[in-house]
Amino acid sequence: MTQLHKTGAAVGEPVAASGAPSAFLEVRDLKVHFPTDDGLVKSVDGLSFTLEKGRTLGIVGESGSGKSVTSLGIMGLHTAGQYGRRKAQISGEIWLEGTELLSGDQDKVRKLRGRDMAMIFQDPLSALHPYYSIGKQIVEAYRVHHDVDKKTARRRAIEMLDRVGIPQPDKRVDAYPHEFSGGMRQRAMIAMALVNNPELLIADEPTTALDVTVQAQILDLIRDLQKEFGSAVIMITHDLGVVAEMADELLVMYGGRCVERGTATEVFTEPQHPYTWGLLGSMPRIDRDQTERLIPVKGSPPSLINLPNGCAFNPRCPYADIPKDNITRTERPELREVGSGHFSACHMSAEERERIWTEEIAPKL
Ligand SMILES: Nc1ncnc2c1ncn2[C@@H]1O[C@H](COP(=O)(O)OP(=O)(O)OP(=O)(O)O)[C@@H](O)[C@H]1O
Ligand code: SF4
Ligand SMILES: [Mg+2]
Repeated sequence: MTQLHKTGAAVGEPVAASGAPSAFLEVRDLKVHFPTDDGLVKSVDGLSFTLEKGRTLGIVGESGSGKSVTSLGIMGLHTAGQYGRRKAQISGEIWLEGTELLSGDQDKVRKLRGRDMAMIFQDPLSALHPYYSIGKQIVEAYRVHHDVDKKTARRRAIEMLDRVGIPQPDKRVDAYPHEFSGGMRQRAMIAMALVNNPELLIADEPTTALDVTVQAQILDLIRDLQKEFGSAVIMITHDLGVVAEMADELLVMYGGRCVERGTATEVFTEPQHPYTWGLLGSMPRIDRDQTERLIPVKGSPPSLINLPNGCAFNPRCPYADIPKDNITRTERPELREVGSGHFSACHMSAEERERIWTEEIAPKL
């Protein structure tokens, strides 16, 4: 094994730290598992990260890698909606401004989450009730946390609709979700998510269903509102183009675990994990032909019930057969610090990774 792996700090396992952290948000060894008839689905299996106010963390990974389950876990929604069929087993620690959400007094936690956190879902219809007007829903969301009369709350709803760029907000406030276009619905949901100036905003594929122009407008909007309110944002997406624009930090998920994380600049310019190389290769580029654009990472996502032994990326990794000093194929690579604040979970030596990146990968990107 290389020096790097011997000396690097392991952060994938339960974090040694204990007690309240100083970070605004700190997730420690989060696990969200679902018991099913086929076995235990380990959708999120030991995720740790921190996030400060005013910063954006991008979480990327292919479909089924555990991005939404992570966000629902943080929001405390792992028993709701489509995830409600089976009760999740959730463990680890989620610290928000010094309060631990998983073990804390659940009434207090619910209030804290409602006041300080908000989520933008991929599908606005899952967040908006079809039978109530957009305005009524924003008013209700506001009044849960503010002791104001309906008139004041309605003014606030109109103001928010205006902020998110809905024309004639004083009229559209009385419209129903089905009367809005997809992009407008997404904006209305963002207005609802932001009505209480959340300190933490989780945006789960907020623009995937939208066309490119609307997508850019919505991302600008999130960025503007973040600047104004100083919120922390978790931006979940499979689109690296979106995180390249938005994120300060990046966390790459594979099979329910983090395989690489660091500042967005580091991860984009000096990615260290073969899966991240694959993702970068599939990133759309304006200067490329449409047919050249999306080269997906070859192979299928792993089973979350029986992850492959050793490195979960092993069956798909083009470098799996490169000999690694003193490492057997069944040994699981832990996250190791490969640069300041930059972590990667791969057995390859720093020299090998550097060689492959500069000679084989970077020239093709
Ligand atoms: N209630 C549940 N019971 C069993 N498995 C579940 C449940 N909820 C989620 N899963 C599984 O957990 C895994 C991770 O799901 P998740 O929705 O987090 O993926 P994702 O990364 O958000 O994917 P996408 O990019 O498609 O949105 C999936 O394999 C999913 O089937
Ligand atoms: S540990 Fe091995 S299989 Fe896993 S990413 Fe690194 S080289 Fe590939
Ligand atoms: Mg998802």
